[in-house]
Amino acid sequence: MRNEILDYFRKANGEFVSGEQISKDLHVSRTAIWKHIKVLKERGYIFESSTRKGYRLIYAPNLLTPLEIDSALHTETFGRHVVYMSSTRSTNEEAKKIAREGAEEGTIVVAEEQTGGHGRLTRGFYSPFAKGIWFSLILRPKFFPMEASKCTLLAAIGVCRGIRRLGLKDAGIKWPNDILYHGKKMVGILTEMSASMEKIDYIIMGIGINTGMKKSEFPEAFRETSTSFLNEGIDVSRKDLLAAILAELEKEYHMAQTEGFDKVLEDWKTLSVTLGQEVRVIFGNDSYTGKAVDIDKDGCLLVDTGSHVTRVIAGDVSI
Ligand code: BTN
Repeated sequence: MRNEILDYFRKANGEFVSGEQISKDLHVSRTAIWKHIKVLKERGYIFESSTRKGYRLIYAPNLLTPLEIDSALHTETFGRHVVYMSSTRSTNEEAKKIAREGAEEGTIVVAEEQTGGHGRLTRGFYSPFAKGIWFSLILRPKFFPMEASKCTLLAAIGVCRGIRRLGLKDAGIKWPNDILYHGKKMVGILTEMSASMEKIDYIIMGIGINTGMKKSEFPEAFRETSTSFLNEGIDVSRKDLLAAILAELEKEYHMAQTEGFDKVLEDWKTLSVTLGQEVRVIFGNDSYTGKAVDIDKDGCLLVDTGSHVTRVIAGDVSI
């Protein structure tokens, strides 16, 4: 009911609405409305009240609370159940914990801040308070475990499309799963899985998107190579961005589950900024250069070194 009340105020566009009117329209007592407004105030919403005119909503906090996310969401299942934390070590770790306890598919864990966010190859991932979207999505797909790595491709497609929808039309995917904007990293994705030989128990899609960081706020090591929406001139609504990404992810995931991965691979290729480029492949202490010519049906990158074509399964690729 609290969501519906909030929605009612949003639709009123900052105009006053009387308690009597809300009570009539939403079939809820005026005392209940008053109690819900009290809770909303405690969560950072600001209402102006007038004994004659009722209430009006004048400020909604820029936080990714379940209420805020719900107000923007257009999905069937993704993001319909939210575990919200002001601060946590890593949303992936939280997501794994609740997935083991049986959390349903589509559940997301969102944090305003991560104190121990991590990326691929055990690298740290900088996740300051409310300056990005740091979240993990729980999936329980029917794929065979050997197909799970392709979920990483799927994640990159959903995130890239969501980012484009919110204004950064040139965002593209760097193999395997970074999203770049004009050559700078804006998103990191870490997909983790728990499976037996024949069945996936769960997949955690961990996604970190830089939204509100100014250039000077990035750690020095990433200042020249990373970017954010704000840095690119867009003061993006985090909840709208999250909702757009979840909608795109849900669509792509549904397609992969029903039709297989062929179309996912095609979609990935159209959004890729790696294919057709001269790249350096770094794997441990080894490195070589070549032209990224394609990805194969497992999502591995094919690099033509001039003498032969290598199949890159893991590692880092720089453009
Ligand atoms: C990478 O760049 O190597 C991947 C970074 C993935 C970061 C996200 S933020 C949400 C989730 N929680 C984590 O600890 N990692 C992922």
